Parts: sequence; C-alpha cells; structure tokens
Amino acid sequence: MDYFKRSKIASILKNPEKSDSVIVMGWVRTRRDSQNLTFLEINDGSSLANLQIVIEKLERFKELENIKLGAAARIVGKLVPVPERKHKIELHPDELLLVGDCPADYPLQKKRHSFEYLREIAHLRPRTNTFGAVNRFRSRIAYAIHKFFQERGFYYIHSPMITATDAEGAGEQFWVTTFDLDKIPMKDGEVDYDQDFFGQQAFLTVSGQLEAEIMATSLGDVYTFGPTFRAEKSNTSRHLSEFWMIEPEMAFCDLAEDMRLAGEFLMYLFQYALDNCQEEMEFFNAWVEKNRIATLESLLKSKFEIITYTEAVAILKKAKKTFEFPVDWGVSLQAEHERYLCEEHFKAPVMVHDYPRDIKAFYMRLNDDEKTVAAVDVLVPQIGEIIGGSQREERLDILKKQVEFFGVKEESIWWYEELRRYGTCPHAGFGLGFDRVLMYMSGMANIRDVVPFPRYPRSAKF
Ligand code: 4AD
Ligand code: MG
Repeated sequence: MDYFKRSKIASILKNPEKSDSVIVMGWVRTRRDSQNLTFLEINDGSSLANLQIVIEKLERFKELENIKLGAAARIVGKLVPVPERKHKIELHPDELLLVGDCPADYPLQKKRHSFEYLREIAHLRPRTNTFGAVNRFRSRIAYAIHKFFQERGFYYIHSPMITATDAEGAGEQFWVTTFDLDKIPMKDGEVDYDQDFFGQQAFLTVSGQLEAEIMATSLGDVYTFGPTFRAEKSNTSRHLSEFWMIEPEMAFCDLAEDMRLAGEFLMYLFQYALDNCQEEMEFFNAWVEKNRIATLESLLKSKFEIITYTEAVAILKKAKKTFEFPVDWGVSLQAEHERYLCEEHFKAPVMVHDYPRDIKAFYMRLNDDEKTVAAVDVLVPQIGEIIGGSQREERLDILKKQVEFFGVKEESIWWYEELRRYGTCPHAGFGLGFDRVLMYMSGMANIRDVVPFPRYPRSAKF
C-alpha cells in the first residue's frame, strides 16, 4: 500500500512545495464537479485541513465516478503550489485508486450534526472536524503531561487497574468478578469470595494514588497517568464512569509545595496548548467557544487565589445568590459553589485548602486543629474542581485512628500502614482529571465529547 512512501497531508500543508510525485491516502471530505474538472478534498486525519485535489475528467481515471463523499482513496500525483489561493497547494493526479467505496447513506453528510447525535455514531465521529481536532489535541496534551514530569525527574509508574482497596472510600467501585451472577457460591449464608478469581473481593480502581505512594516512598517523585473508574450515578456534563487521571506523588513534600506544583503544572499545560496546538486552539476558538484563546492567555497572567475552606464557606454564606444546595461549615462544596468562587467572587482560578476531615478521604493528613485535613481542591471557572490533592498522613498512630474512623478494612490496607512503619516521611500529591482539563482548554461543554468512547450510566457502546 506504500505506507512508508506516502506523504501526510499535515506535512504537505506545513511546507507547501512543488513535487513531481507524491502519494496521498485518505477519505473524501467534499466532492464538487464542473464540466471538465472534479475537485476533491481529501483528509487523512493528520490535520484539520484537507488537501485539494484537482482532477481533469480523463478516460484513464476510470474510478473517479465512485470516489464520492466518505470513500477511501489513494492518489499519486504532482503537488502544485497556488500561493494566490486559500488552500496554497493542490494535487494534480496521475493515478487515482478507489480503496474503499462509500454508499450514499453515509451518515456524515456535509452539514453540522449535533454533538448528541455524533455520540450515537462514535465509530464515525472522529472523522468530523471537531472530533478530529479534539482527539489530536488529546494526544498532544497527553504528550505535554509526560514532558512536564519527565523534565522534572519524575518517573512514570503504572498503578494497577484491578485493586482490592477503595482509595477514596466513596463506595463507587465497579466489581471485578468471574462469578456467574445467577449462581453465586455461598458459604454460611454469605458470598464465598474465596471461590472468586482473586480469592477475595476485587474492583476496578478509582485512583492509583495508594500505589503511587508506595512508589514515591521508593523512587522519590512519580506520576501515574491512566484510566480510573467510578460507578457514580452522576449524569452530569463533568462526570465519566471511566476517566483518565494524572496523579503525581512526591516524597518529602508538604501541602504548600504540592499546591505550588499543581499550579505550575496547570499553567504549563495552558501555555503548551497555546504554543504547540495552534491549529486546534484556533479551531476551538472559532467553532466551539469564542474567546477560548483569550481566556487561557488571561489565565496565564493571573494568579491562583489561595483560601481555606473555612474562608470559602464564609464568602459563600455572604454571597447575594441563592444556591440550590445551601452552604454551611462541614458540607461538601458543590459545583455551583466552586464556580461562584471562581467566576463571580475572585474572577480567577482558586485553590481551597484545609477541608473538614469528615468529608474527605482517610489518607489525608490531619491538621493540628484535628477538625480539618491538609487537602486542596483546585477550582477553575466554568468547570469547578479540576484537581484534588493532599498531604498524606505519614504518622502511623494517627493514620490508624483515621482508618478506624472511616471504617477502612484493615486487611485491605495493612501494607499502606507499613509504609509508615518503615522509614515514613511527609509526602503529598494530587490528581488532575485529564478529561476535565481538556474540556477546560478546548471549551467543549460536555466531558463526553473530549473522550473518544465515553462511558457513563447506561452507555458503554463502541
Ligand atoms: O478529587 P479526586 O477524587 O482525587 C483523587 O482521586 C485523589 N486520589 C487524587 C490524588 O491526590 N492523587 O479526583 C481527582 C480529579 C478531580 O479533581 C476531577 O478533575 C477528576 O479527578 N474526576 C473526574 N473526572 C471525570 N469524571 C469523574 N467521574 C471524575 N471524578 C473525579
Ligand atoms: Mg475531589
């Protein structure tokens, strides 16, 4: 198929020079016929822009008739620069080959489709301009994430996807079992997990943090970057049942240092998007949300507001706004509260730290007031929480009390406690929701549209 000899449209357009023989392969995005000429626009997925093909209607192009919208084609020909035209360069074919034809019922006809409809045809949606851009952007930002951490000496670790612990303690795990659900083995009136695949209860992980802590207390600075799973019944535009998370974990690090790294990391990603993803950012700016570029630019000039949870609650209580969920010290902040703080009160991204112990996870370090923990949430306008992090409880006696208080099963956490027996040290980390940060940077309004194959309640198609 001349895979190694073909030219990618992205590189042709980057450097629009004359050439006598290039091979291009892709899918027809538009076809227009005049009396003697046919104009095709071909897209091979390497960039948003198409390559313009100008074809004289000659006898020898026998397959031209069937190279229609959606078809896959291979074209060999000459590249001719046309600097006066918008498309700058065009391909004049010597050979035309129909690789895969496409019937007239192709769902992606040339008109705008709603994002809801495109979710129903997720096998074709990356061929649209928007989802091509989203998925190329996703790939580039994933690269930026590795670059950020690798350049700072962090090691990339693979935390397991199957686990026996509930790191966040929110009870939102998917079970992993090979039991036939119609015939579950029982013993003394209870499920006999001993007979299950792992000889115990097992789940899909909600977070790689606990394992990252093991690795950080050996390798120093580490990060995970992988899928995590939560069976939350949250049918919102910000929740997925399978989402990607980046979880750095740093030994000998406290909450203030953790917050500083979280801020630098977010700013790095915004800057990277503006500097290295111009094509996608310009597309989002034009078609998805006006002002996306200006918003990121102004954010880069701003500073994170840093307040305690107690201060946040005081601000929210004074707010001249009725919230759906009333605020009081001790309740979890809802998206509406988080957004009020960023969008209306501070008009800036905000870090809220020192949350009440009772509403956070067992592993967070207890503050001296014994009422709050060294936790931080990073909030951004439009989305609310984008990062959750904390300093971890490194003191064995206090950790044990927390484990008991939160009802974490000892047998699932003994190894975590041993890290505090053998050379314990202060350490901290955070989790950035990859899909949420992509939403924020692109301006896409629904998290289901920044992931190629979204999983959410009652939907695991494709
Ligand atoms: O605040 P969370 O639950 O924190 C943790 O999981 C910690 N173990 C992180 C750590 O300290 N290592 O989740 C972190 C982030 C959230 O701020 C949010 O951006 C994202 O993960 N997130 C989700 N994204 C999409 N869909 C969901 N259902 C999400 N739940 C959390
Ligand atoms: Mg959180």
